[in-house]
Amino acid sequence: MAEKSFADALNEQIANEFAASQQYVGCAVYYDAETLPRLAAFFYRQAMEEREHAMMMVQYLLDVGEEVRIPDIKAQQTSFSDGVAPVKAALEQEKRVGEEIYALFELAREVKDYRAEQFMQWFVKEQVEEVALMSDLLNVVGRAEDNLLLAEDYIARENPGAEGSDPTAPPAAGMGG
Ligand SMILES: [Fe+2]
Ligand SMILES: [Fe+2]
Repeated sequence: MAEKSFADALNEQIANEFAASQQYVGCAVYYDAETLPRLAAFFYRQAMEEREHAMMMVQYLLDVGEEVRIPDIKAQQTSFSDGVAPVKAALEQEKRVGEEIYALFELAREVKDYRAEQFMQWFVKEQVEEVALMSDLLNVVGRAEDNLLLAEDYIARENPGAEGSDPTAPPAAGMGG
């Protein structure tokens, strides 16, 4: 039997998603200060997405009548050794979140919480996309290391990470879903 309830574990993940959001604001601020506005905009948008993930989890807990805890804000990194480092860190973060999501999925199975398992499915798919997105960006930024304007062009041209509305996405608290 699992020692932690799914609701407790999901509350922890809410903290992780908010932390991811804050870290992406940190990356965005770094690029903004370096006058790399496309990279900044990319991370500002990713920050919003992570916040939305947290709010989806909040809505889920509300829907199933569980307690919601809103975590403290922890300081995140805003200075980096070079322009590649934020993307490298972002890829590591997405991989780590992936592991956290799989652990939640596994826990839902273990405790036979079918609602929770179904809820987590969307996040499993989302993590595949986000890891792919960040590793693509790392390829581009790595190649453009000495001239990040090339990465700016790539983002302007390809608009990576832009998502149309996804009808399968869980509703987020406060979004009227
Ligand atoms: Fe996320
Ligand atoms: Fe993410």
